[in-house]
Amino acid sequence: MKYNIALLPGDGIGPEIIEQGVKVLNAISDVYSHQFEFTSALVGAAAIDATGDPYPDDTHKVCMNSDAVFFGAIGDPKYDNNPKAKVRPEQGLLRMRKKLGLYANIRPVNTFPSLTFKSPLRQDIVEGADFVVIRELTGGIYFGEPSGRSEDGRTAFDSCVYTVEEIERILKLAYDIAAKRNKRLTVVDKANVLSTSRLWREVAQRIENEYSDIETDYMFVDNAAMQLIQWPKKFDVVVTENMFGDILTDEASVITGSLGLLPSASVGVHTSVFEPIHGSYPEAAGKNIANPIATILSAALLLKSFDLNSEALAIENAVKEVIDQNYLTTDLNSDDPKTTEEVGTKIAKLVKESKSIQYAS
Ligand code: IPM
Ligand code: MG
Repeated sequence: MKYNIALLPGDGIGPEIIEQGVKVLNAISDVYSHQFEFTSALVGAAAIDATGDPYPDDTHKVCMNSDAVFFGAIGDPKYDNNPKAKVRPEQGLLRMRKKLGLYANIRPVNTFPSLTFKSPLRQDIVEGADFVVIRELTGGIYFGEPSGRSEDGRTAFDSCVYTVEEIERILKLAYDIAAKRNKRLTVVDKANVLSTSRLWREVAQRIENEYSDIETDYMFVDNAAMQLIQWPKKFDVVVTENMFGDILTDEASVITGSLGLLPSASVGVHTSVFEPIHGSYPEAAGKNIANPIATILSAALLLKSFDLNSEALAIENAVKEVIDQNYLTTDLNSDDPKTTEEVGTKIAKLVKESKSIQYAS
C-alpha cells in the first residue's frame, strides 16, 4: 500500500535523526512491499531562516495532505538566549499542534532490561516500569490568553485556560488507552491551588463513572513528580494538562536511562505527528553522535497508526537487539560509541534480516 509521509526534520540534530528514521522506514517498505512517499517541509529555526515564518503555510499544506508527519526537533540557541526575539522556532511547533488539532500527546515510557543500569535511579526501582503519559497538547498555559507584558514592560502574564470539552476529549482518549492496558488511570492536577485543575477533577469524577472497569486515582502534580521516580512501577496510564505533561515526561525519561530513547505520537483532529520527545540538542548537531533510537521508535508508532503492527514490531525488535548488543551512541555507550548513522544502518539491516528469518522459518 502507498502512504504519504511529511518529513519535518527541523533544527539541531533533527535532520540527522530523521535521516536514520527514513532509512529504517525504507527498510520496512523494501521487505514488506509498501510504498512510502516522503515530502520534506521546513519548520522551526530552519523555516525562519528561509522564510521568516517558523511554520509556513506551505508546510501546513504538506502536513494536511499527508497520512502522517514524521518530525525531528525544534529549537536554536540563538533564540533561547534572546528573550526579545519576535519570532521563535517553538512558535512553529505550537502552531503546528494547534492547526492540526493535535490535542493528545502520547508518550510511552518503558525500560529495556539491558539498560536499566544506565538509569540514575536504582535498578530495582526502574526494572519493569512500563507506563504511558497522555499529555493534553493544545490548551492550558501554552495557549491561554491574555499572555504578554504590561505597557510599562515590568509585569508579564500567561493564562492557563481549559474548557470542559477540552478536558473531556483528552480524558476519554486516556480511558480508551487504559482500557487496552492494565486498566489503571492516574489523573494528575493541582486541584488544591488552580481553578483549571479543579475543573479537570470535576470532569474526571463525572467521566470516571462511565468507565467503571478502570481504576481511577487522582494525584497532585508535585506528589506525582515524586512518586514517578520513587515508584515508577505503580503507574499504568497518566493523564495531565499541557505543562505538567511537558515537565513530567522529561522527568520520566531518566527512568529508561536516556532521553534519547523516548518516542511520542501526537494525535487529534487532522494528521498525526510522530516525534522523539528530546529537543534539538544543538551541541551535538552535525557531529553524528546523537541517539537516533527515539526517532526510530517514533517511526514504529507511525506504522502502528497505519495499522502496520508487524512492521512496527520488527522495528521494536531491531531496537531491542542493538540495545542488547550495546551497539549504541555515546549517551549510552561512552566506552565504545557508535555514530548516529551506524546505529540507524544497523537497525535498518536487522529489520531486513528479521523478515528473511520469518520467511525461512
Ligand atoms: C516538548 C518540547 C516543546 C514543549 C517545546 C520545544 C516547545 O519541550 O515537545 O516537550 O514544551 O512542548
Ligand atoms: Mg518538553
